Amino acid sequence: MPFQTIIEPFRIKTVEPIRFTTRAQRESALAAAHHNLFQLRAEDVIIDLLTDSGTGAMSSAQWAGMMQGDESYAGARSFFRFEAAVRDVTGFTNIIPTHQGRAAERILFTSACQPGDVVPNNTHFDTTRANLEAIGAIAVDLRCAEATQPSLIAPFKGNIDLAALDRCLAEHQGRVPFAMITVTNNSGGGQPVSLANIRAASALCKKHGVPLILDACRFAENAWFIKQREPGQADRTPAEIAREMFGLADGCTMSAKKDGLVNIGGFLALNNAALAAKCRNNLILTEGFPTYGGLAGYDLEALAVGIKEVLDEDYLRYRIRSVAYLGDKLTAAGIPIVQPPGGHAIYIDAKGMLPHIPQHEYPAWALSLALYLEGGVRSVEIGSVMFGRQPDGTEKPAPMELVRLAFPRRVYTQSHVDYLAEVLLHVNGLKSRIRGVKLVEAPELLRHFTAKVAPAHGSLIAS
Ligand code: F0G
Repeated sequence: MPFQTIIEPFRIKTVEPIRFTTRAQRESALAAAHHNLFQLRAEDVIIDLLTDSGTGAMSSAQWAGMMQGDESYAGARSFFRFEAAVRDVTGFTNIIPTHQGRAAERILFTSACQPGDVVPNNTHFDTTRANLEAIGAIAVDLRCAEATQPSLIAPFKGNIDLAALDRCLAEHQGRVPFAMITVTNNSGGGQPVSLANIRAASALCKKHGVPLILDACRFAENAWFIKQREPGQADRTPAEIAREMFGLADGCTMSAKKDGLVNIGGFLALNNAALAAKCRNNLILTEGFPTYGGLAGYDLEALAVGIKEVLDEDYLRYRIRSVAYLGDKLTAAGIPIVQPPGGHAIYIDAKGMLPHIPQHEYPAWALSLALYLEGGVRSVEIGSVMFGRQPDGTEKPAPMELVRLAFPRRVYTQSHVDYLAEVLLHVNGLKSRIRGVKLVEAPELLRHFTAKVAPAHGSLIAS
């Protein structure tokens, strides 16, 4: 086609109104939420980029599939449709449904890990780390060198550091129940992992006799980046690439709320039948019978359709382009972001944008509050509030102070993104007046969800 515009590859059949708020209304909403965006009422948000998880729009084919849901307690038809679809996409033999990703993590970790065990990953996401630490295991992040330089443009900044992985597996021989790779690397900027890197990590794991587990939430976006960026991959379909990624691993945990295109759902997939049997027993304790895993039959149907739809090339091209479109506008305005733009989100480098706010005053948290106050945009801090507290109770600044603008799938249009860019440019114009924040009250684990926060110097934005 001679045309350049990459349009949304869908028409909109159902709409949900957005409620507009004034700055004064948002100021009081923020105070009532103790300056924690997780504590806001969603209807007080204009554009909600808190997460891309479970917030997507389902297709008419998914809704139609839901009407076919078989709600039998055991052996439901919907389970077998789900199992066949997941097996077809991943190639794994044992497929265990769970209500979302962290349930798959908890079940795998409590079935396979002992206190003191070490689990390496390119970067553990917060729930993965917390689930390991909750059982006394040690979550080790082995980012590649490029990953911590936000402005550096490199094709696969999600890669795991292979030399560090080799050392870790040798040093903790017998204490590593499995290694993990997160695709795409969410905490590291939504950056992809190359096929070559997964292949090399897989070989290292085999050498040390350690299984490799993918945290596969955004496997389709990762496959798309491989197709675009990795030599020799351009002519393969995202489905073929995904199948090879999974084939290099021994199993995966999956939050289908991302690249499963569903509002709820996940799974654990394993080739090891004995471990899978242990996990199924463990699942029964909290999730339900192994053919529904905490989901309704109709949820399994929606997932069976979604996990295939997500591999559609027109969808992936639009998806990745709509994130890059915002990235281009911010870059042109001189706003520092993690480069290149990630698959599901733009990550603003708050340390770079607000150098006057010291890390102990949480610059990324302060910036996320300013975006809400000024434009009603909800984002999420991925910085020292999320990751600063160490298991021994001490405080250590996170390697990066990021504000993530995560894009729900198939929900916002290009004019929403234009509005977002306008809000960000406005906030950039008053950045020197944004001031730091302090923690007033916070729990030990996953504190960012419920922490009470306050401006450290009277007001968030100096007059
Ligand atoms: N792994 C990664 C890489 C994730 O991004 C998430 C969730 C999970 C595991 C857990 O999955 O939410 O279904 O239990 N990430 C969401 C986010 C919450 O906003 O990035 P879950």
